[in-house]
Amino acid sequence: SFVPVLLSGGAGTRLWPLSRAGHPKQFLALDGADTMLQATLRRLDGLDPAAPVVIAGEDHRFFVAQQMQDMGLTATIILEPVGRNTAPAIGLAACHLPDDAVMLVLPADHVIRDTAALQAAVNAALPLARAGHLVTFGIVPDRPHTGYGYIAKGAALDTGPAGAARVAAFREKPDADTAATYVADGSYLWNSGMFLFTAARYREELAAHAPEMASACAAAMDRAVADLDFLRADADAFAACPSDSIDYAVMEKTGAAVVVPLDAGWSDVGSWDALWDVSAKDAQGNAVTGDVLLQDTRGSYLRSEDRMIAALGLDDMVVVDTKDAVMVAPRDRVEDVKHLVEALRKQA
Ligand code: GDD
Ligand code: MG
Repeated sequence: SFVPVLLSGGAGTRLWPLSRAGHPKQFLALDGADTMLQATLRRLDGLDPAAPVVIAGEDHRFFVAQQMQDMGLTATIILEPVGRNTAPAIGLAACHLPDDAVMLVLPADHVIRDTAALQAAVNAALPLARAGHLVTFGIVPDRPHTGYGYIAKGAALDTGPAGAARVAAFREKPDADTAATYVADGSYLWNSGMFLFTAARYREELAAHAPEMASACAAAMDRAVADLDFLRADADAFAACPSDSIDYAVMEKTGAAVVVPLDAGWSDVGSWDALWDVSAKDAQGNAVTGDVLLQDTRGSYLRSEDRMIAALGLDDMVVVDTKDAVMVAPRDRVEDVKHLVEALRKQA
């Protein structure tokens, strides 16, 4: 079996005004009845996972606890006193778990349409993780996205599932020109941000490539305090931990990475455009949620939480209405919503 390890630390800024610092997207039901956090676990139904470990910020502890309780799950909820990015977040979980625990690291804010394909990939990857590899799940890229990690496939593995290969190189978030050459090359995959490895192997790789991080995580968990459902990492020890992502700190550097292909309708619903992309649409390509009246409108995402939105003659627009804020932007500009949010913070 394996332990689902859920990363639930992001702020989801680009999905403002629905996603807020105090209530980020992983705790929202953007798509269906489950929240994104719950859907992440629900997708594993049938694989017989062990009790999950969720790593989240102190401020979000009650969202996590409530949502796990609603699913009837007893999760270990590790609380980070401060955010130190994903390499240490995963490090905390690895220090909590026994050596041979196989960790399935899952971002709590992705959409995956084809559950069966995901489960098949996880099953296929389990023996590779047990054998000591750091498994990534690779997606065939369809555009030169600069927000993802790129995996250069190396030699095929003798054992293991079809398409599984060594990772020849891992390059996190290349610039646009580099990303374009990777996509043109045809042998690169996107890193999906999901990983599978044993706790011992992750701790070893962290110690080899980011020793300060490894010791800070170990100290923070040695002195962790259990409190209700929560396991609080020690604040002083974790504050001393350098901040970096698993991608830069470990995956770009390790020689032990392998990639298992994943074709499961995966989407990192990072922006309103990405959410439009995975949503059900009408014949004109509009994705609509809530009380929305449309005329002569195409290719747009319209979401009303409360009032009615009446739209006339819009093309490729995003309109999101919440109780205290309305956001309107062309669909091809919504990556910049994060700059809107920065400007708002400065005003506040
Ligand atoms: N607990 C915790 N603590 N979780 C965190 C923290 C943290 O400090 N920072 C980020 N997370 C969570 C986010 O909420 C998200 O679910 C996941 O970890 C990944 O972090 P992102 O910040 O969303 O990373 P990214 O999207 O820029 O890049 C990663 O994902 C891409 C695919 O979506 C990388 O792994 C890329 O290589 C990958 O292509
Ligand atoms: Mg992400």
